[in-house]
Amino acid sequence: MFANHNAQDKTYFDGTHRACSPEETFNRNWPLAKQLGITRVADITGLDTIGIPVCVAIRPNSRGLSTSQGKGLDLFSAKTSALMESIESWHAENIDLPLRHNSYAGLINAGEQVVDITSISTYTDSYVSSTTPIYWVQGQDLISRKPMWVPFDTVSTNFTWSGRGSTQANFVISTNGLSSGNTQQEAIAHALAEAVERDAIELARDAIRAGATSIKVKPETINDANCQKLFDALAQADILYGVYNITSDFKIPCFSCTIVDRESQGRWRTLPAFSGYGCHPSPEVAVMRAVTEAIQSRLTHISGSRDDIFWAEYSKLGNSDDLDQYRRIIEDIPASVDFTKIESISSQGFNTDIQQMLDILDNKGVSQVVVVDLSKPNINVPVVKVVVAGLMSPSEKSGTKQVRAIKREVNTARGLTA
Ligand SMILES: Nc1ncnc2c1ncn2[C@@H]1O[C@H](COP(=O)(O)OP(=O)(O)OP(=O)(O)O)[C@@H](O)[C@H]1O
Ligand SMILES: [Mg+2]
Repeated sequence: MFANHNAQDKTYFDGTHRACSPEETFNRNWPLAKQLGITRVADITGLDTIGIPVCVAIRPNSRGLSTSQGKGLDLFSAKTSALMESIESWHAENIDLPLRHNSYAGLINAGEQVVDITSISTYTDSYVSSTTPIYWVQGQDLISRKPMWVPFDTVSTNFTWSGRGSTQANFVISTNGLSSGNTQQEAIAHALAEAVERDAIELARDAIRAGATSIKVKPETINDANCQKLFDALAQADILYGVYNITSDFKIPCFSCTIVDRESQGRWRTLPAFSGYGCHPSPEVAVMRAVTEAIQSRLTHISGSRDDIFWAEYSKLGNSDDLDQYRRIIEDIPASVDFTKIESISSQGFNTDIQQMLDILDNKGVSQVVVVDLSKPNINVPVVKVVVAGLMSPSEKSGTKQVRAIKREVNTARGLTA
């Protein structure tokens, strides 16, 4: 999997690390739209007052969500991120890799390498028994460098598949760790960072909600022109923002950003507060991703285009007491984190970044990082799903999250609780 890589394969560094420019990626992949059922990419930036680009790619015949959101510093970055997310989702809904139907014990007895199913996120606290037959798909464990079977439910996002649920396995079905890219290495690096990000969010959930001083970043220490541009746009639109360092025990830079209208805003409509998250070997890219994602979440809400945001959410969010609380948290709680002290682990090449992240995970006892290659020869876009045993994910039951945090002896002294 790591053969023939170029150690310095990153060529584009403006707000994201890529093997080529977003414009080149878009122009190369847009001709695939018809074949994959993507009918359009819409620029929805103008529905909000911030002006930082957000786009939506529409795929009406999806087997999961029919819209994919995209964000970035410029329009091509946002268009490309929406298009690439739609493309990767299509791949995860249309998997034609060989499946095996067997139990965990059955595969082990047959001499196969199998992911530790007790370390995979589940919707409930009950695990699938090791003798229950389920569907499996094979990937490559990046740490042992051996083929490894993972439950098909942890890879597929085809929500219409009739085999789903029949196993009572309860594995969380999500796009966590699903990624596309210009190269396979680029996709793996993004997917790994995403899995680490989701885990960090779960660890920091209470601290984020409280806007805790221990994780609150002093905005004036974020000395990055791209972030400054984003902060200026938010200030111009009369929006308050708080940036939080949610980097976990892995020390892979990870941030959250919360935005909320100032009180003077919202006379003709009341918008809730929104959060975004970002994880990347480079702290500057990580924080920028968090801020652009918060802006994207707000526009997703405004555009009403996402299938899984229901009326109940619209009606319960954004009441004035809640908004006041968010404002107080952002305005009154002092910040303590000096951004310049957060170390980058970024390099000039995706392979080096991947190896650094793998070493960190492995040293912390997270030793099964399975990549399933979902790319198709006739389409030729690198798409992977990375399944990391032992990391937490948003839909997971809280009991199992606690077990994982304790297993990793996560330091709760910073106010991070599972
Ligand atoms: N310029 C680009 N070139 C190649 N692939 C890209 C580019 N921008 C985004 N992508 C891919 O598109 C997908 C979506 O990326 P994006 O950064 O928008 O969201 P994300 O952080 O994965 O968001 P989410 O949390 O919603 O999953 C990822 O797989 C990413 O690798
Ligand atoms: Mg993603």
